[in-house]
Amino acid sequence: MQSRIRIGVLGGAGEAAEGHIRGFQADPRAEVLGIWDVNHDAAVKRAADARIPEVHDTLESLLASDVDAVVVCTPDHLHAEHVTQALQAGKHVLCEKPAATNRDDVAGLVRLVRETGLTFLAGNNYHFRPDYRALVEAYRNGDIGKAWLAEGDYVSNLQAMYGASGRTPWRSDSRNPQNILLGGGVHPMGLMLWALQDEAVEVMAYSNHLSEPVLPIDDCYVMIIKFKGGAIGRITAAAGSRGHVPDGGHIALRGTAGSLWGGKLYRDDEHRGHPAVVERDFEAETADQPPRVTDTIQVHYWAEQAEHFLDCIEGKAKPLTSVEDAGRIVATLAAGVESARTGKPVAVDNNF
Ligand SMILES: NC(=O)c1ccc[n+]([C@@H]2O[C@H](COP(=O)([O-])OP(=O)(O)OC[C@H]3O[C@@H](n4cnc5c(N)ncnc54)[C@H](O)[C@@H]3O)[C@@H](O)[C@H]2O)c1
Repeated sequence: MQSRIRIGVLGGAGEAAEGHIRGFQADPRAEVLGIWDVNHDAAVKRAADARIPEVHDTLESLLASDVDAVVVCTPDHLHAEHVTQALQAGKHVLCEKPAATNRDDVAGLVRLVRETGLTFLAGNNYHFRPDYRALVEAYRNGDIGKAWLAEGDYVSNLQAMYGASGRTPWRSDSRNPQNILLGGGVHPMGLMLWALQDEAVEVMAYSNHLSEPVLPIDDCYVMIIKFKGGAIGRITAAAGSRGHVPDGGHIALRGTAGSLWGGKLYRDDEHRGHPAVVERDFEAETADQPPRVTDTIQVHYWAEQAEHFLDCIEGKAKPLTSVEDAGRIVATLAAGVESARTGKPVAVDNNF
């Protein structure tokens, strides 16, 4: 029997790491061999709970071990540095979103992935949700014609995550707080670029800091995007939405022949022109495809993403979100952060 692909997890004691670990453990081709976390005691506990043989006390030690591939689940601002170290050590990489927090860093990752020829998958777990996937496929099949408007939200209530005693204190740590446009807006941005197969030319964004006092930076962003192909985009990302019902990453696309909105396909009634009729309901159509791993703190399509990463390593698939795709996502969102800061439109450099 061919030996299994050995996985190492950076930030292995965290919430996202739990999902990835369980996801890889659900695939017989993989073995989660080792983890590293700056919180060593928590890593020891995670390893015991998840039956992981090796706990490393430094990143260097994990990268010097027999792992073939790593999953980067450390805080956002460390991703580029940790991916770089892993690629330089010859490991394939699945990196949690966002791949980097600025354009220069993501450009460095594009160069390094090309130089090393290693597999790099940018973690965009919303791409593995069957309903979102079906919606994107419907657009790419031409079901609503050509999009002229694309909208997407990541409007959330991260109160439980924030503060020194929160579930993920790094997000509100004043040294490197998570920027919600980059860290949350990445979900609709990734779906939008994937659906449209287009790129942003310029963005204009506004932000404020009125809803989440524990976060030391702006907690709400609205970004307008001018796409090369002519469509206009709008992404809203917010962290302090009280009374909030979690939704996350739905995107809405308005096209020349119909609309994809609220997870449904609408077209004009053939005979009356109006009102519109629902032709497809993607959530209902995919209700029989729940995530394979569900007993984790955060439930996402972790196993499906792990399976895709293993397929990519084995040469059976191309990364659904390649390093160049991650480059376009980060470049656009980072331009939005810059625009909100300066009050001016910012051109997006997609030349990777
Ligand atoms: N795709 C998704 O839906 C999704 C969901 C949750 C988190 N995430 C991403 O996963 C990553 C981790 O987030 P999380 O929610 O699991 O947070 P978490 O706090 O649960 O996990 C982060 C881990 O990193 C460790 N860590 C903190 N500082 C570190 C440092 N300097 N060096 C090394 N390790 C350090 C922490 O001890 C912790 O165990 C983030 O990038 C986040 O954006 C993605």
